[in-house]
Amino acid sequence: MKSPRALSILAIAILCSCSNGGNTKMTEVANGVWKLTCGRPEAFNLTSGLGITPKADAINAMPECSGLPFDMNDLKLEVFDGKTYIRFPLEEDEKIFGLGLNFHSVERRGSIMRLHVDHYGGSDNGRTHAPVPFFVSSRGYGAFINSARYIDVWAGTGVRKDSKHPAKVIDRNTDPDWTAQPYSDNLEFLIPAEGVEIMLFAADNMLDVVRKFNLWNGGGVLPPRWGLGFWHRVPTLYSDQQVYDEVAEFQEKEFPLTVIGLEPGWQSMAYPCTYMWDEGRFPNPGEFVARLDSMGIKTNHWMNPGISPDSIEPYTGTHTEWCGIVPDYTMAQARDIVGRFLWDNEGSIGVSGFKMDENDGIDSWLYTDVARFPSGHAAEQIRQAYGSMMQKTLTDLYRSRNTRPYGLVRAANAGTVSYPFVIYNDYYDHRGFITALINSSFIGTLWTPEVRSSDSAEEWLRRMQTVCFSPLAMLNAWSDGTKPWSFQEVNDEVKACAELRMELIPYLYTAFADYTFYGTPPVRAMNLEEGYACEDGFEKGVLDSTENPYQMAIRQEAMDQFMVGNDILVAPFFEGDRERRVVLPRGRWYDFWTGELAGDSEVITVTDNTGKGNIPVYVRDGGIIPMFPAVSVLDGTPLPVTIRHYGEKSSSYHLYDDDGSTFDYEKGDYTRIEINVEVAADGSKTGKVTIPEGRKLYSISGIEFGF
Ligand code: GAL
Repeated sequence: MKSPRALSILAIAILCSCSNGGNTKMTEVANGVWKLTCGRPEAFNLTSGLGITPKADAINAMPECSGLPFDMNDLKLEVFDGKTYIRFPLEEDEKIFGLGLNFHSVERRGSIMRLHVDHYGGSDNGRTHAPVPFFVSSRGYGAFINSARYIDVWAGTGVRKDSKHPAKVIDRNTDPDWTAQPYSDNLEFLIPAEGVEIMLFAADNMLDVVRKFNLWNGGGVLPPRWGLGFWHRVPTLYSDQQVYDEVAEFQEKEFPLTVIGLEPGWQSMAYPCTYMWDEGRFPNPGEFVARLDSMGIKTNHWMNPGISPDSIEPYTGTHTEWCGIVPDYTMAQARDIVGRFLWDNEGSIGVSGFKMDENDGIDSWLYTDVARFPSGHAAEQIRQAYGSMMQKTLTDLYRSRNTRPYGLVRAANAGTVSYPFVIYNDYYDHRGFITALINSSFIGTLWTPEVRSSDSAEEWLRRMQTVCFSPLAMLNAWSDGTKPWSFQEVNDEVKACAELRMELIPYLYTAFADYTFYGTPPVRAMNLEEGYACEDGFEKGVLDSTENPYQMAIRQEAMDQFMVGNDILVAPFFEGDRERRVVLPRGRWYDFWTGELAGDSEVITVTDNTGKGNIPVYVRDGGIIPMFPAVSVLDGTPLPVTIRHYGEKSSSYHLYDDDGSTFDYEKGDYTRIEINVEVAADGSKTGKVTIPEGRKLYSISGIEFGF
């Protein structure tokens, strides 16, 4: 007899015929991962140029999947009018997440979007820096529409006539139940191409669906360890001496600093770029980079895609961007020329990575959709894949030199999960930045809510606190010239949170290793946390939906609280807040700062009457947090780790360590240190550290328990 899973696969093969579009083919390519093609998919899609190797072994090691959770008759695929239509069924209480880096909302039901790479313009309409066409459903599956076209999405807004749940015909004049938006059981997509490839992922819970999506796309990035320290970008047009002076100030104040970012001005020309050092401001680039390096500080360079005309012709498009010519990065020839140039002038002397700006485009500054490119791909496809292909260029360049870079980018799309870039933008809304941080975790991207300026000391502190719990902690002073200590009133608090960032590096680095090996996003949405959005609230007596508006709370707080690694929950304060609610998922949670019990499966209220208190952070029962001392640089010297254990549960943790800078970990050159903490009946704790035989420590000089 066939297993239910095998039956469901068979059903798909029979039922999903793609009307008017040729054959539909569905193949299971890994445990709970299917490739479905309909019609004639285009050869160029979001991942075809990236050369990613899926981590199928890691997917197959996950719990066996019992199939897709919906009836295959309800999946419709059709090609008409030169376009492909896809319809997924939607249950009444189903939730949909993902579909791009949105800043104002997390749940997608009710949205109408056109997924289109762009600078975020203030509305969750699909135009954003990473409009990744992947969604994850609360029913335990997800789908990735692999097309580099502008994709239209109706997430539960239209009601089909043949729906199993047709809209009730009632009279608006007399019936108060009438609604303009009746329940729609469709999640619909329209792709302007005569066929498409769809990847389907199924698992018992949404986090595992996301993990499968990430692993299928190569697994998450493991940044170099220094990338997780504190970054400072200096003002545009700074010279080497001004940078030295700024660094000296950091050192004098013992303020953490692991990376200095140079903005437009390091090049001989910007807008368009030359990618060559300016001889006046930086007469001796090699010496400059080496001097910073000797202080344990890496250098990162701003660049954008518009380059001043030279030897890259004929591999550019017909139109210009920022007054420069635009390389066709989908062509290996263009990637080779730019890559070689960047290595010869920057990488080879130690520049650790780049900030690839403005590859998202803003229509009025960018090549238009009628531009032609030598690869023959449409401008629309180039636009959708531009950030990804630029990331590939840089990633391949450093990888071939066995050096891990880490940097910033303004455009990404599906398939960039293993690339060492974090997205940022010019939109400067603190709440929106946190919502983006949350949304980035559904779609295989990283986001930083960078800090630039503030109207008040309180806002400055609140922004600094959240950026220190993000994938990249950075002050971007390119135009404001701010320094971490620009707001005297909160100096100590700002310094303390930057120091905490440095202390948390072993914990953060382990969270990133889990991203790489298991696909688990290091910073993620509460909705991906088991025991968070339980439909019925928690056990009776603990949370009751009538006495405690749990369902309302999870909708709101899903936008402004998030998980960092497996055990830390962060619920930031925003400027002006004196109290906020925090939804604690099932179980006991402890205050990070005091170690005291904060709540048990409940919604709590946290207050701060000063406006400059600690950021609210909670640790789950049994949470183990490894910490470095509060150093201000990472110069390669091994550091002692102190282990904190929260709560009453005995637990274990696998602390990850490697050389922190090369790709040798991919060949097995790393150590997972097993940490066990036993809590006795009287509450006393005993810790044990086990280093597997034959393995060594790299960044750690010793491990002790802080209890
Ligand atoms: C913007 C970017 C800023 C800064 C500036 C330099 O596009 O978002 O962070 O780099 O360009 O011109």
